[in-house]
Amino acid sequence: MSIMPVKDMFNSSARDSLSRHEPLSVVGICVDDETWRFLKLFAESLAMIQLRLCSGDYRVQDHESVLEYLGDPTPEICLVDFDKDRRSAASVAERIHASAPETAIFAVSHQSQPDSIIEAMRSGCSEYLVKPLNREQLVTAIGRVAARRRDKKESSKAQLLGFIGAKGGCGVTTVITQFGALLANSYSRKTLIVDLHPEFGDAALYLGLTKPRYHFFELLENTERMDADFLQSFLMHHSSGLDLIPAPDGSEPPREVIPGAMSQTCDFLRLRYEFVLVDLPPGLNDDNLELLRDCDQLYLVTVAEVSAVRNLVRQIGHLRRKDIAPEKIQVILNRHQNRSAVTDAQIEKVIGQKIFWRVPNQYAQVMKTIHEGDPVAQLSNSEVARNLNEWAGAIGRKPGTEEKKSGILGLWNR
Ligand SMILES: Nc1ncnc2c1ncn2[C@@H]1O[C@H](COP(=O)(O)OP(=O)(O)OP(=O)(O)O)[C@@H](O)[C@H]1O
Ligand SMILES: [Mg+2]
Repeated sequence: MSIMPVKDMFNSSARDSLSRHEPLSVVGICVDDETWRFLKLFAESLAMIQLRLCSGDYRVQDHESVLEYLGDPTPEICLVDFDKDRRSAASVAERIHASAPETAIFAVSHQSQPDSIIEAMRSGCSEYLVKPLNREQLVTAIGRVAARRRDKKESSKAQLLGFIGAKGGCGVTTVITQFGALLANSYSRKTLIVDLHPEFGDAALYLGLTKPRYHFFELLENTERMDADFLQSFLMHHSSGLDLIPAPDGSEPPREVIPGAMSQTCDFLRLRYEFVLVDLPPGLNDDNLELLRDCDQLYLVTVAEVSAVRNLVRQIGHLRRKDIAPEKIQVILNRHQNRSAVTDAQIEKVIGQKIFWRVPNQYAQVMKTIHEGDPVAQLSNSEVARNLNEWAGAIGRKPGTEEKKSGILGLWNR
């Protein structure tokens, strides 16, 4: 590999813009000597990266060992060489991606066939660099990581709030659509709902929005095209100011989500909103784990029924085993009434935590809101809307501002 002075390759403005940033820390896994030597020279001549260590084997077994292995804080970039053992390299990349999603993983390899590249991307690598490394390609790849970090730091990110039912029909879509519309309208918060049901999502229906053009899974499949214009074609706009990215309208064959696509998409959406609310299908599987880890809060919506409470206990246990911080998990008791078969005290005892919010049981009001598709218009005559408006105010009211009154409540304010 011929080593040309890297500095000579860039004009002064490119060098200036690169040198304004802190070098990104890099860890290598099984990177061959020649490539590592090149990286050392690269790091010395352009202060874009700082090499930490290069491990000689793919020995990452579990979450703890990944973090121990990568060091604390975890590096910004991890280079995984795929040439020694492609299988082990792919599984190490997957583990790192799951345990340290903030670390960008670059695959390096002599092989440049599409299959090899796809395999690496599927295991969570965001870049694929073919040996001998090309300096310009390396600068571009590192530049992308630096730009993403800068974007993250500079923009105030939306809170990502996940809503998931203890079982089907607990009221997730009812709660999330009303809560979202009230956050957007009463508290003027830029709010987006993402309907993550793989088929037949109800969020658009409950908001009276029809004729969706594209759904969220199509956005996930096009992360490389994501920009503000592209996003527009996925958005449905509600009269409250709330935006929605709907679920597929009907039944579709199951889609494979490329590892990393969910985090990347959420990061992109968080830069454009103040609150991103996710309507998750009930049940826990590792497909949603990437998203659950990214959420600032996870609201588990239950009703006071034995089967729902039993599932709730299992859900909480599962989330804890997956290292989701307990303080992120909050329980919402929907359809609350004072005389239910399972009492609040019994629920709190089995789940080992307090119920965070209670939404009253008002079937007729909820059905009216769904039929009319406008939670804001129901504020004056729906106990459920008022209850959710109070919760929206608790997290959405900007310091020093009054709640905006809508409908008949607005008249009293004149
Ligand atoms: N607070 C409430 N009081 C009375 N009925 C309610 C309440 N919340 C929801 N419901 C009713 O419960 C039913 C299920 O609600 P919803 O569709 O919101 O549940 P879900 O958890 O989203 O269901 P799915 O698992 O199908 O996505 C609906 O008929 C809705 O009207
Ligand atoms: Mg639903």
